[in-house]
Amino acid sequence: MTKLSFPLRNQIIIFSLLLAIGFSCKPQKHQTGLLGNKAMVVSAHPLASEVGKTILLKGGNAVDAAIAVHMALAVVYPQAGNIGGGGFMVIRENDGTVHSLDYREKAPINADKDMYLDAEGNALPEKSQNGHLASGVPGAVDGMVRAYEKFGSLPWEQLINPAIKLAENGFELTEKEADFFSAYASKLKKHSTVDPTHFTSKSFKKGDFLIQKDLARTLTYIRDKGRDGFYSGKVADLLVEEMTRGGGIINHQDLKHYSSKWRTPLRGTYKNYGIITMGPPSGGGIILLQMLGTIEDYKVSNSKDKFVDYLHLKTEMARRIFADRAAYMADSDFYPVPINQLITKDYLLERFKSFNPNKATPSSEIKEGEIDQESEETTHFSIIDPDGNAVSSTTTLNGNMGSKVLVAGAGFILNNEMDDFSIKPGFPNMFGVLGGEANKIEPEKRMLSSMSPTILEKDGELFMVVGTPGGSTIPTSVFQTIINVVEFDMGMQQAVDEPRFHSQWKPDLISYENSFSNKRLFEDLRKKGHILKERGSIGKVDAILIRDNGTLEAGADSRGMDTAAGF
Ligand code: GLY
Repeated sequence: MTKLSFPLRNQIIIFSLLLAIGFSCKPQKHQTGLLGNKAMVVSAHPLASEVGKTILLKGGNAVDAAIAVHMALAVVYPQAGNIGGGGFMVIRENDGTVHSLDYREKAPINADKDMYLDAEGNALPEKSQNGHLASGVPGAVDGMVRAYEKFGSLPWEQLINPAIKLAENGFELTEKEADFFSAYASKLKKHSTVDPTHFTSKSFKKGDFLIQKDLARTLTYIRDKGRDGFYSGKVADLLVEEMTRGGGIINHQDLKHYSSKWRTPLRGTYKNYGIITMGPPSGGGIILLQMLGTIEDYKVSNSKDKFVDYLHLKTEMARRIFADRAAYMADSDFYPVPINQLITKDYLLERFKSFNPNKATPSSEIKEGEIDQESEETTHFSIIDPDGNAVSSTTTLNGNMGSKVLVAGAGFILNNEMDDFSIKPGFPNMFGVLGGEANKIEPEKRMLSSMSPTILEKDGELFMVVGTPGGSTIPTSVFQTIINVVEFDMGMQQAVDEPRFHSQWKPDLISYENSFSNKRLFEDLRKKGHILKERGSIGKVDAILIRDNGTLEAGADSRGMDTAAGF
């Protein structure tokens, strides 16, 4: 990828994104997704996808587009898009070179393993999930700056300006968005020290504009000063003042010390497919490789009679693998995660010896495997540029609107990522996943994630870019999407729209989306001993597939406002 030095200042472009020539659409269920001959962006919001497409049309590469999409999502999708959170980015250059960037939040320097326990040792999830103490040190801005330093080709300003315009001028809300922001207003008011009136002063309705002046100013600092525009100076002061007023612990030293990291991506294979995914501090990539490595030895089918066997197998795998997650997965800078052992064939075969094709194993009988050594609101976007470079990026505040603390004067919402640590051994986080010693809170440690931005190769060539939000359902949703394409012969949009099922170790159940119903399948699963539970939608997968003829097919999840834009 060609790059340019950072930052080139004072180059302000005219905001013409909504006039950009080209097409974007919202595919219907089971239709082919948007097709493109050259490039594709798929994200959670149509305006963000258009921003990415415009950057690509200007000659920017996939990482340029990813930075611009990330910043745009911070404005138009503030429930998960962010500058106050963190995430992961997996990159595959067109020559096959791969990279992964970890800009996950860190525990503040003054964090302590018992900080969410009361005097009797009871866990206090309200504190790890809401308010000032719930936030890890944000990594997103440092991450975007580092990505730009390595790969940026357009002027930095051009990548940030679209987000500034969207914040400054506002954007028109759909009915769903209006309802969502109205519903969250009281929570933002409750947890922020200064009432964020642009969110709370009225009940939004369809057609209203959400204008975010303070956020526009913060983004302008970031545009003009890069990393220093966020981690020092005015914005840092506002963040630390917010913490002081609200009883939080993030201080100037935390902000100064924060650094994102280039890490070696995790690699694995499934048949003739190469998998490039995120390693620790995400457990998502390990879980995905464990599931694919196990299922490789079974013949699976989605035919009427065989689908139950596939779901049974998938559930039994997840049961065992999520028990491993609880015991062995954490920030590898602090804990020696036995990655290679967890994903080797021998280990997976041994781990699956107790599998009975006819009967569910109660989770209470499952322990972690033996190792020698020791809102679920997030958002994902996938990008392929005209030169064939690919970016798979998942970013988050953790829960919807994170800690619900909006930094007064700076206009951005802080994450509640501290809940992704094990706040007490054996106590579940908001996604019901358990953790222990490995993922305990330590100063400057990154909390374990399930985010799984992933890129697939087929016979060594770029094949798919995929990822999703969804907390602990992330790796199982990515897994199902991959299997839908490579085993069940679906196109990208169909693979994304298919009903999803999720199971982990505990709770001991299979959850299924409430839009799905199949009495016979449910009966067959119950006969094998499974407990079923209906729930709302699982994940919002945004993905791109390279079809046999070389065209790109988008899969933009119809569960949300997710939209593809390509050419
Ligand atoms: N905050 C959700 C995750 O990182 O898995």
